[in-house]
Amino acid sequence: MLGVCYYPEHWPESRWAEDAAAMAALGITYVRIGEFAWSFMEPRRDAFAWDWLDRAIETLSAAGLKVVLGTPTATPPKWLVDERPEILPADDRGRVLRFGARRHYCFSSPAWWEETQRIVEAMGARYGNHPAVAGWQIDNEYGCHNTVLSYVPHCVPAFRNWLLDRYKTIERLNEAWGTAFWSQTYGGFHEVDLPNLTVTEANPSHLLDYRRFASDQVAVYNRLQAEILRRLSPGRFLAHNFMGFFTEFDHYPLARDLDVVSWDSYPLGHTDQRLPMPAEDKKRWARSGHPDVAAFHHDLCRGMGTARWWVMEQQPGPVNWADFNPAPAKGMVRLWTWEAFAHGAEVVSYFRWRQAPFAQEQMHAGLNRPDGALDQGGEEARQVGEEIAALADSLGKRHQAPVALVFDYEAVWTFEIQPQGRGFNYKDLAHRFYRCLRRLGLDVDILPAGAALDGYALAVVPSLPILRSGAVAALAESDAAVVLGPRSGSKTESFQIPEGLPPGPLRQLIDMQVTRVESLPPAVRDQITWGNKGYSIGLWRERLESAAAETQARFPDGETAILSQGRTHYLGFWPEEDFLTDYLASLAEARGLTVQRLDDALRLRRLGDLTFAFNYGDKPLPAPAPEGSAFVLGGREIAGHDLAVWRKG
Ligand code: GAL
Repeated sequence: MLGVCYYPEHWPESRWAEDAAAMAALGITYVRIGEFAWSFMEPRRDAFAWDWLDRAIETLSAAGLKVVLGTPTATPPKWLVDERPEILPADDRGRVLRFGARRHYCFSSPAWWEETQRIVEAMGARYGNHPAVAGWQIDNEYGCHNTVLSYVPHCVPAFRNWLLDRYKTIERLNEAWGTAFWSQTYGGFHEVDLPNLTVTEANPSHLLDYRRFASDQVAVYNRLQAEILRRLSPGRFLAHNFMGFFTEFDHYPLARDLDVVSWDSYPLGHTDQRLPMPAEDKKRWARSGHPDVAAFHHDLCRGMGTARWWVMEQQPGPVNWADFNPAPAKGMVRLWTWEAFAHGAEVVSYFRWRQAPFAQEQMHAGLNRPDGALDQGGEEARQVGEEIAALADSLGKRHQAPVALVFDYEAVWTFEIQPQGRGFNYKDLAHRFYRCLRRLGLDVDILPAGAALDGYALAVVPSLPILRSGAVAALAESDAAVVLGPRSGSKTESFQIPEGLPPGPLRQLIDMQVTRVESLPPAVRDQITWGNKGYSIGLWRERLESAAAETQARFPDGETAILSQGRTHYLGFWPEEDFLTDYLASLAEARGLTVQRLDDALRLRRLGDLTFAFNYGDKPLPAPAPEGSAFVLGGREIAGHDLAVWRKG
C-alpha cells in the first residue's frame, strides 16, 4: 500500500540495489520511476539507450518491488527542442518559453504529437510486457507551471477547428458570443484569433471557449498516450498525477481514460498558497496543513469515476516551492498517509526516496537525507508500514458518503473570467462548504455535475453557474435535500444571462428569479437573520423574488436571503462559515443524519465499519468513539498530530 518516487538516473548504479533493499525493508511495494528521464532513454534521436533502465527495473524487481513507469513527456530533451522548436509553448504575451526547466511543450503542437507518439511507442514496445511493470504514469502533472493555456501560432488553427466543430456556422458563433457588442462580428472561422493581447478584457464567451478548448487539448493529448499504452502494455494500469487546487483543465473527462486517478499531496504548500485564508489560520496550520485541504482532494479523486485512486506524491518533509517551507510537525507525514487511506486510497507514494543534492529541488526533502540517512518522514513512513497489516483488509475500499458536494471546473473558469467582485473565488466557496460539512463530522463525496445522486441525504452545490446537460436532471431526480449557492444557474452555456433570468433551468427545482446582484467591497458588511440569529455576510448579495418559494432568511431591509421550495434551498449571498455550519447542520439533522460539532482541529472519516479520527492540532483531544468501540490504532486520548481508529463495538 506504500510507494515511493525514485530517480535511478540521479544516483550511481552501485547504489541501486542498496536503495531497493532499503525500500522493501521500509514496507514499500511500488516505485515510480522514469517520468523525467527522456535524455537518458534517448540521448540522441533514435539512439535509444535502454540498458540502464533495464537494469534499474531488474534491480527493483529483484528486491520484490513493483514498478510504475512514467512516460517522460514532461521533459523533452535539449536536442529535440533544438531540432523542433515548434513544440515550445508561449505565454499570454506571446513570448515563446525556452528549454531549461520542464513542461516546455504546447498541447496543440503537431510536431509535439509526433514526438510523443515516438517515445511512448518506443517505451511501450520495450517495457509493455515486462513482468515488473505494474502500471504507467502518463506524463507528469499536466498543466503544472501554468502550461495549459498556450498562445503560439499553431494553437490558432486548432482552436478554429474546435470552434467549427462546436458551432458549425459562424452565425451561430456570433450569436453565442454576442459579437454584436463592440462591433466584434466575425465573417468566418478563419477570422477568429486567440483571446490574448486584447486592449482590455476580451469577450467572456471567447475566453470561456478558449479555456474549454485548452482543457480538451489536454484530454486528447492524454488519450494519445493512453491508446498507445493500452495497445502495447495490456493488463497494466494507466495513471496520471493531478495537482492540488489545480483547475486549469477539467479533470473528470480526462480521468475517463485512466484506471488509477492519483494526485500529489503537499498539504503545507497547498494551505499556504492555494486558498484564501486569514493569516491567523495560515499560521495555525503552517506545520500540519489545514485539516480539510488534503481530504478535499482525496474525496475529489474518489469522485473521478475510476475504481482505484492513489496519492502518487506525498510530501515527506519541507518542500522547496512555496513562499515559505516549514517542516511538517512530527507525526504529520504519518497522519497524512493515514488520512489518505481513511478516504479510500489504494496506495500512498512518497515524493521522493532521497533528497537530491543538486539542481532545482535540492531544498526539497525526501524520505532520506542527501547523506543517505533516514529522515523524519522516512521514520514515519516506516511506522505506517508496520501499522498497515492490522487494517489491510479494510483499506482501498469504496463506501458511499451521506453527503454529495458538486464540484465543477467550468464554474472556476466562469468566475475567473468575470468575478464581478474581487474575491469571488469558486474554489474558496466550494472549500467553505466542504470544511463546514467536515466540521460537523460528516463524510462527503465530491462529484461532477450530472452525476447520479441516488442515496444521498444532502446534495450541496456551492455554485453551478452553467448547467450542462444532465445537471438539472440529476438534481431533480434525486431525493436529497439540495442546497444551491449564489450565482447558480446565472449563465447559459455560451456565457450569457439566461432568458427569464437566473437561476435559469434550475427553476425546475425552485420557482424563483434573481432580479439583481451586487458585490460588496471588504469594508461593506451586511447581515442576514436566519432562525432568530444574525450572521454577518459580505462580498455578494442577490435580490431573490418568488411567488412560490418560501423565505427562510432575510436581510435587515426585509429582502429575502434564502428561498426554499420542497427539498431545494437557494442562498442569495456569499456565506461565511459560522452560518454555513449552523445551516448545513440543521438540514443534515432534518434528513436524519447524525451531526457532531467537532473541535476545529479534529476530523472524522468512516471506512466501512472503521472510524478514523485525526487530530491536526498540537493539544490532545478525546476520541469521539462510542462506548464499547474497539480501538485498532491509538486510544481514547488522541495526542497532537496523531490519530485513532476504532471499529463499532
Ligand atoms: C510535484 C512534481 C514533482 C516535484 C514535486 C516537488 O509537483 O510532480 O516532480 O517537482 O512536485 O514538490
